[in-house]
Amino acid sequence: MLADRKPNLKLFIKSYGCQMNVYDADRMSDLLLAEGYSLSADLSTADVIILNTCHIREKATEKIYSELGRLCLEKNKRKKVGKKTVLAVGGCVGQAEGEEIIKRAPFVDLVFGPQTYHNLPKLLDDVFGFDKKIVDTSFPVSSKFDNLVTHEPSKPFSAFLTVQEGCDKFCSFCVVPYTRGAEYSRPVDQIYSEAATLAEKGVKEITLLGQNVNNYHGVNSCGREFGLGRLIKKLSKISGLERIRYTTSYPADMNTELINAHKNVKALMPFLHLPIQSGSNRILKLMKRRHSVEDYRELVSQLRLAEPNIAMSSDFMVGFPGESASDFDDTMSLVEEIKFANAFSFKFSARPGTPAARFGGQITEEVKSIRLERLQALLNAQQLEFNQECVGKSLPVLLENVGKQNGKLVGRSPFMQLVHVEAPKDFLGKIANLKILGARKSSLFGELL
Ligand code: SAH
Ligand code: F3S
Repeated sequence: MLADRKPNLKLFIKSYGCQMNVYDADRMSDLLLAEGYSLSADLSTADVIILNTCHIREKATEKIYSELGRLCLEKNKRKKVGKKTVLAVGGCVGQAEGEEIIKRAPFVDLVFGPQTYHNLPKLLDDVFGFDKKIVDTSFPVSSKFDNLVTHEPSKPFSAFLTVQEGCDKFCSFCVVPYTRGAEYSRPVDQIYSEAATLAEKGVKEITLLGQNVNNYHGVNSCGREFGLGRLIKKLSKISGLERIRYTTSYPADMNTELINAHKNVKALMPFLHLPIQSGSNRILKLMKRRHSVEDYRELVSQLRLAEPNIAMSSDFMVGFPGESASDFDDTMSLVEEIKFANAFSFKFSARPGTPAARFGGQITEEVKSIRLERLQALLNAQQLEFNQECVGKSLPVLLENVGKQNGKLVGRSPFMQLVHVEAPKDFLGKIANLKILGARKSSLFGELL
């Protein structure tokens, strides 16, 4: 009987890529733990191994295939001692490659996508019970969210909460609309009750997630539509919830209500990740972004008017097909002008099936590397400068983890900076006021006030 067998089955989930994958992996384990599975701390003792994958750039995808190679050896080792290991590939590589994965890695037993993981208990029953291989990458009509439960937050004091998923923007370089599907906003009441449960469990900070989170437009039980600004205001009333963040936002979807929330909602943190990608209007057009450099500049000034302390973050891509030296210089100038507290930057990676993969004017790896290095040097200098400006100030820091050094705790400032401090362990989960004493590129250190 399967029901008898499950309590002995051990599960190991490894997640790659974005925060939404972290959220999804937690929901997978919530579902399977409720079925009687237990978590395995070590991959080599797991009966079920799930790779929750990322397809955004070629490197991310290749990483999965090399990991699968290693897992095949592990699976064979266990087979020799009579143990079965189910290998499953979920997430965006699962969605994009489907059966291809089993062709290329025939020892994989199960492939599923981001929209079907709520079926995992049944899928795994079938793999175990009938000893067959399954590929389930459908986009079900009913929402997977109706079938999910949240038992455990991603971290004890700071949790992710998916409010919106998918993307209809189809930027010419991006696979997300193909792997995550069309934009979907979860109903307001479902989100509210998940946030309230998290707060009851001691979570102080939630990060609302969505591929286009600021285009959130869910409805409440009376059929009234909420934008993200109104949703944030509602969630900020939950007792115990002290901090709210959201990511990732699409510049053309920033509206006045959301910008004003930065002024009016105390719990909304003064930090915004707002990917621009390039500082050249010509490239932005080729990317099919729906904003210009001027729009972005205007948005930043409105945000700074609403919340003068707001720290800006962004994503940049270098070496997009056709990017000239002068287009790249425009990106550098934009960075100089806006000043970012932190940012992610990538080399353009041609993704199969996206229009930009077939564009003329592809840029050589060498040029991409030189541009990325220059851009990262500037962004790193800005990050260090931003951190140094905090020295001498007092910042409220949510202390989340025990540090590597004895007696130290690590937390996050309102601006997402990692802060180290000497403090007793019972400060964990508290928001403590710290005086900042020193700054590095990726962290601050302070003392309790
Ligand atoms: N709105 C999304 C963006 C997803 S992709 C979000 O939730 O973050 C994250 C970032 O990866 C993008 O902003 C872009 O800078 C980068 N990216 C996406 N496709 C890429 C590609 N083909 N090559 C290189 N970088 C890419
Ligand atoms: Fe990708 Fe553009 Fe959507 S970057 S996630 S297609 S907004």
